[in-house]
Amino acid sequence: MSGMSARAHRTVGLTLQRLLGLLALQVVVFGAIGCQRDSFKEPLVLGGTSVSARTLNRGHRAYLRYCVGCHGRKGDGNVPGQEQMNPMPRDFTKGRFKYTSVLGDQLPPDRDLLRLLRTGVPGTHMPSWSTVEPAELKAIVQYIKTFSPRWRKEKVGTPLPLPHDPWARDADKARRRGRVVYHGVARCWQCHPSYLGEDEIRRLQSRLPVNERLPLRANPRQPLSVPTEYGPTLAPAFKKYQLRGGNRPSDVFRTIATGIPGTPMPAWHPKLSGRELWALTHYVRSLVGLEPGIKDNESQTRVNRK
Ligand code: HEC
Ligand code: HEC
Repeated sequence: MSGMSARAHRTVGLTLQRLLGLLALQVVVFGAIGCQRDSFKEPLVLGGTSVSARTLNRGHRAYLRYCVGCHGRKGDGNVPGQEQMNPMPRDFTKGRFKYTSVLGDQLPPDRDLLRLLRTGVPGTHMPSWSTVEPAELKAIVQYIKTFSPRWRKEKVGTPLPLPHDPWARDADKARRRGRVVYHGVARCWQCHPSYLGEDEIRRLQSRLPVNERLPLRANPRQPLSVPTEYGPTLAPAFKKYQLRGGNRPSDVFRTIATGIPGTPMPAWHPKLSGRELWALTHYVRSLVGLEPGIKDNESQTRVNRK
């Protein structure tokens, strides 16, 4: 009898212990999830603006849902298969972005990052997130800033103002002027293809002082491969290219004016005037097929098509 009760007691004891163990395990598991769900307890100052813990936690959850597969848990883009993507997913720990409205290496304002999330980066693996709720996108933008120490130390840069397009009424004239700036002034063919014959480039350069003229590189109709922080990259051949920083005239103006940090694509502001930058904007948009081609006389057209 006493043996029985002792055994029964032991059984009850074991069950209780097991139950307690299970409970403890649950506390640990839920605790961890809870922890992950609310990794931020305090607001953070990012790029000079205070962001609430609530927004950061929301951004974190959305990031784990949409972005982690390519940009990684640590935001460093270190995920299996990343090397198969060209360009590779961005490493956010560097706090450096390609398509922004600020000059040099300054941190971009939120609206640059939001625009980028809405459009994605066409022609790369970075998709558009335009179907995600705007408040959620805004929270993700805040969250990705937590990956790089730069956002805790520096303030957001000042966007380059967008001047009024002086060619709005005569886009064809703008494209012709843009072609001259492209081939004879800025000489974008140092990296990108040339779209005029060598004689014409020589003729355009003859307007410059002799010591400023540049020799044409070999195969000027082919784009040049240049070293960048992201690995060797072809300067785009515009006739077979989808603009990555956006298609609208204001996007193209901004990309040419502010350049692409981390690559040899320079900022052309303030080397070129607003008027020249707008002319280039129309010309580049015509090369990629977003605006009509230049209406030239026949010989000129043939030169262009070559
Ligand atoms: C299928 C893979 C993939 C997913 C998913 C993805 N990205 Fe990207 N992302 C990329 C690639 C590839 C690039 C590099 C594009 C380039 O260098 O031009 C990139 C670049 C970026 C950039 C840098 C843009 C710049 O101007 O330099 C940001 C910001 C970004 N992604 C944010 C996000 C966010 C936020 C999410 C989730 C909502 C996300 N990405 C989901 C692949 C992805
Ligand atoms: C020293 C080399 C170099 C010169 C000179 C240069 N570029 Fe670029 N450019 C690049 C490279 C490299 C890229 C691609 C960067 C990348 O995709 O990461 C690029 C990209 C671009 C893009 C694509 C942006 C997008 O949205 O995808 C445009 C437009 C552009 N350049 C315009 C110009 C114009 C106009 C000039 C002359 C005023 C010029 N570039 C001069 C190297 C150069």
